[in-house]
Amino acid sequence: MSRIAYVNGAYVPHRQACVHIEDRGYQFADGIYEVWAVQNGKLIDREGHFTRMDRSLSELQITKPMSHASLMPVLHEIVRKNRVKDGLVYLQITRGVSPRDHPFPKNVRPSIVITAKSLNAQKAEQFAGKGVAVATMRDERWARCDIKSVSLLPNILAKQAAKEKGAYEAWMVDQTGMVTEGSSSNAWIITKDGVLVTRNLSTEILGGITRERVLMLAAERQLTVKERAFSVAEAKEAREAFMTSSINLVTPIIRIDEKAVADGKPGPMACALRKDYLQSAAT
Ligand code: PDD
Repeated sequence: MSRIAYVNGAYVPHRQACVHIEDRGYQFADGIYEVWAVQNGKLIDREGHFTRMDRSLSELQITKPMSHASLMPVLHEIVRKNRVKDGLVYLQITRGVSPRDHPFPKNVRPSIVITAKSLNAQKAEQFAGKGVAVATMRDERWARCDIKSVSLLPNILAKQAAKEKGAYEAWMVDQTGMVTEGSSSNAWIITKDGVLVTRNLSTEILGGITRERVLMLAAERQLTVKERAFSVAEAKEAREAFMTSSINLVTPIIRIDEKAVADGKPGPMACALRKDYLQSAAT
């Protein structure tokens, strides 16, 4: 079955989908994106992603190309046309096409692209069930990591460096030795005394939608939660560690650099929160 993409108002074969060479997303990374998890054909946390999308657009002063009401049927249609049961939807909005010049062009129409992709849910469970390794490295990003911008160069460099070290994710570390977040996920630990810790929201991290849901699930479990920074040293001594994102949901971390997390097996609470996530998203 061939994939279908949505590009500026039209559904087109994925292979032929394209934007102009002078799209500002292509030339300046002048745009934003969102990724929704899809489970059982349903978009997870649809509204939360909309809210973050609006915020990113407004911070970059990019005009919203479509209202939520007109976007919604497109998101559902792209899932349907691509027959995605489990997977993700990717949406990207850029400032639009205009002759290359740094200042914002006047009267430009934003470009919007939406794609959907299937992921094998069974394989994803097997993968998460084994846990993953992370490699720590300096956070080299800009000062507005709260904006979900398509400008991801430091993120992909970090992810690639992690991959070359045999790790699945990079944990980025600020100048004071504190973990900010993963290259495409939020970072969590459960301390020796059982406190669930994830970095507080600020311009230094992306406010993950999965993070929000996990905070809610943790409250339901009556876990003690602290939104604060934690150091690499504290993480290496933690009882558990895990990452969250719309792609990896809740995924246990079993190694940080060369150090096994606790006994080097996926932590029970991380596994329980993943189950909670799947259950809560299904309802
Ligand atoms: N990444 N932090 C960063 C830097 C991210 O890129 C992401 C998501 C997250 C988690 O956000 P959420 O829970 O809303 O997915 C945190 C997406 C999935 C990506 O770049 O593909």
